[in-house]
Amino acid sequence: MPAHAAVAVRWHALILHLQALSFWTIAICTPPPTWAAAVNRTIDDQFGDSVTRQLPSYQPDGKWAQGSQCSGCALNSTNIALSEVFSRTWHDSICHPGEPDRVISVVFRGTAAHVFNLIANDFGGVSTPSNLTFSLDNELVGAFLHEPVPNRNSVMFQQAVYVNESLDDENHSFEIRMNGPTPSLILFDFIVYTSIDSDESSTSPSNSSNTSNAPSQCPFPHLPSQPSDSTRSAQPSAPIGTIVGGSSS
Ligand SMILES: *[C@@H]1O[C@H](CO)[C@@H](O)[C@H](O)[C@H]1NC(C)=O
Ligand SMILES: *[C@@H]1O[C@H](CO)[C@@H](O)[C@H](O)[C@H]1NC(C)=O
Ligand SMILES: *[C@@H]1O[C@H](CO)[C@@H](O)[C@H](O)[C@H]1NC(C)=O
Ligand SMILES: *[C@@H]1O[C@H](CO)[C@@H](O)[C@H](O)[C@H]1NC(C)=O
Ligand SMILES: *[C@@H]1O[C@H](CO)[C@@H](O)[C@H](O)[C@H]1NC(C)=O
Ligand SMILES: *[C@@H]1O[C@H](CO)[C@@H](O)[C@H](O)[C@H]1NC(C)=O
Ligand SMILES: *[C@@H]1O[C@H](CO)[C@@H](O)[C@H](O)[C@H]1NC(C)=O
Repeated sequence: MPAHAAVAVRWHALILHLQALSFWTIAICTPPPTWAAAVNRTIDDQFGDSVTRQLPSYQPDGKWAQGSQCSGCALNSTNIALSEVFSRTWHDSICHPGEPDRVISVVFRGTAAHVFNLIANDFGGVSTPSNLTFSLDNELVGAFLHEPVPNRNSVMFQQAVYVNESLDDENHSFEIRMNGPTPSLILFDFIVYTSIDSDESSTSPSNSSNTSNAPSQCPFPHLPSQPSDSTRSAQPSAPIGTIVGGSSS
């Protein structure tokens, strides 16, 4: 073998070795990703938040009924299939003109919210139009109006009456309000909100290595972290944090 060929082979081996070394150095020294997953939580009308257990508040007192068990309500388990209703419960109120506003308030931290109600059509003498407004952090953000279809005594289940998928990942106060110049009915079932769970102890698949104090042992400086804003706006279920192994691209 000519000498220069042997040198070339050795250089080649050395470069491969360095590449492998730097790969492992990066793999070991990169801070552990913070695993963040978008998960849905529910706020049930009766049982409250599936995680925080916080209950919705209903104003004014005495003007609300648990619809599933309401012997005086035109719509109750006699004519509504409980199996179609989330957790088999809903809150019922009718607001007549001049009466105090009916208000449901909840608080949650999340990036999206979906409100689901039962919507009723024509049940004879019952007032079933539904005229609602929605406020987030004291700002009016939406409205919902349903006029019953005449002569159709049907109930529609799990109807999204308000959806907002562009919330900041912060605490929000949210309000559903009913009032207006005509009688209005609400049959509130539940809210789904999307929480960004960033919980290293429960969701990281490589939980065993606590490397938050490892940097001082790394021979090379850290790669710059990915800006978290750009990863956050990517797939909601993707891990937020530095992605290891970019050298293959
Ligand atoms: C949360 O629930 C809403 C409404 O059902 C759905 O559109 C959304 O895809 C869900 N998000 C997640 C992360 O499951
Ligand atoms: C439902 O309400 C009606 C009156 O509107 C009543 O006769 C019936 O007993 C109620 N059913 C239940 C399960 O409370
Ligand atoms: C969602 O909420 C934000 C305020 O947090 C508001 O600016 C935006 O208009 C809302 N979007 C919808 C579709 O209601
Ligand atoms: C959000 O609310 C919860 C519960 O009230 C509180 O513990 C937390 O500190 C709040 N977070 C922010 C960012 O305000
Ligand atoms: C719905 O309620 C709003 C006030 O919240 C009112 O301005 C509007 O006229 C009502 N719509 C109907 C059809 O009653
Ligand atoms: C993650 O590590 C913590 C602390 O070392 C430990 O208490 C916890 O049980 C671990 N969780 C899993 C899922 O391994
Ligand atoms: C990880 O290490 C840091 C710094 O030593 C420590 O404060 C923290 O409690 C550790 N976490 C776990 C889950 O062991």
